Amino acid sequence: MSEIASLEIDGEKYEFPIIKGTENEVAIDIKALRGATKGIITIDPGFKNTGSCTSEITYLDGEKGILRYRGYSIEDLAEKADFLETAYLLIFGELPSKEVLAKFEADIKSKSHVDEDVKKILDGFPKSAHPMGVLASLTSALIAFNPDSEDVDSEEEMYNAIVNLMGKFPVLVSWALRKKQGYPLDYGDDSLGYVENIAKLLFKKPSADYVQNNVVIEALDKLLILHADHEQNCSTSTVRVVGSSHAGLFASISAGISALWGPLHGGANQAVLEMLEAIKADGGDTKKYMGKAKDKEDPFRLMGFGHRVYKNFDPRAKIIKVAADEVLADLGVNDPILDIAKGLEQEALNDEYFVKRKLYPNVDFYSGIIYRALGIPTEMFTVMFALGRLPGWIAQWREMRLNKEPIGRPRQVYTGENSRPFVEVNKR
Ligand code: ACO
Repeated sequence: MSEIASLEIDGEKYEFPIIKGTENEVAIDIKALRGATKGIITIDPGFKNTGSCTSEITYLDGEKGILRYRGYSIEDLAEKADFLETAYLLIFGELPSKEVLAKFEADIKSKSHVDEDVKKILDGFPKSAHPMGVLASLTSALIAFNPDSEDVDSEEEMYNAIVNLMGKFPVLVSWALRKKQGYPLDYGDDSLGYVENIAKLLFKKPSADYVQNNVVIEALDKLLILHADHEQNCSTSTVRVVGSSHAGLFASISAGISALWGPLHGGANQAVLEMLEAIKADGGDTKKYMGKAKDKEDPFRLMGFGHRVYKNFDPRAKIIKVAADEVLADLGVNDPILDIAKGLEQEALNDEYFVKRKLYPNVDFYSGIIYRALGIPTEMFTVMFALGRLPGWIAQWREMRLNKEPIGRPRQVYTGENSRPFVEVNKR
């Protein structure tokens, strides 16, 4: 392939370098476009054709259903690694040795304490508050309690901010849940591993001893790994853009949580369950809802189906489907909602509308099913996604800072009124 792309405007020729990634992805480097053409820009709503950065963290091929973190396949990581070593890999680029992993874990544990005063902020929220809003607010509030973690320049300061957030985030997640349930707020248990501790923080009942279920721990570990990064999606791009103004790590992650909240992104796992419940309440007629999803006059979409990038299958969905079956069998769950989910899945996979548009169940379709089986309230599903995505957001933020990327500031094509005279209010 040529190394130069040419563009002709009004008989004037411009040339731009073509760059190639390590997996042969090709991009036209238009950094010089506006300067060379004296003001012409490109327009690409939704950034469907726009690369915002180069990145060494995650590779995915939507056509082939490939997802790799730092070169390792998601299948290998889900089967052989645990969440904390996956987090280290994403953030720092290499799988850690035993000693390095032990230090990373110890550093995280040493920072897991959340100031008691943060509870007062949580107290200010009504129980009905959506836990994603609570989590975004508490993450932002951490800035006031940990000012050293905000203004970070050196690698050492970044490391401290990273372990600080990795330590405190599971506690905040569990507080968002326990507040909803009316349970006392717990602190972590340093004798447990990272994911075991998360499970205890989430599931310990106030009136009973906590008993660990290893099938649940394994499913949780896999879910967190599968959600840990997904290159330049909406929330990750948000984290990078906010961080590019040199807002600190906690502020950038808080913004990422807000971006993840929407139903077209991380909020889809909640939307899936709400959709299944609505179908059940309406008599369980899946065919009727298939019809609504295909009707262009009807805004209804089949939640948990389709993906901006994966147009054949979502490799995460394949792994999580197996984990969902294991958890349901182990917990002996018998749930009519799950039967509706299976019915919809089968119908959509065999329906011409869905097949033609390459709309397959995505990771959110199955993750919601597992969370429901574990007794996690529907509104908490996206919070669980955020818990998994934290290392990816951190890795992307760190890469952006180390690459000294410029502040994110897109342009626009103005289509509003031309200059017009101001008319005073009594003359309008
Ligand atoms: N149900 C019914 N039709 C759909 C669906 C769906 N879930 N998704 C896409 N389509 C149709 C569209 O109507 C469109 O049809 P047309 O070509 O006849 O106009 C076609 O498929 C292409 O859809 P787009 O919206 O252009 O696809 P895009 O790549 O922009 O959107 C998205 C992807 C947002 C995920 C979309 O499939 C969707 O809304 N899915 C439901 C929400 C969801 O599950 N989101 C989670 C994504 S995974 C994640 O964030 C972790």
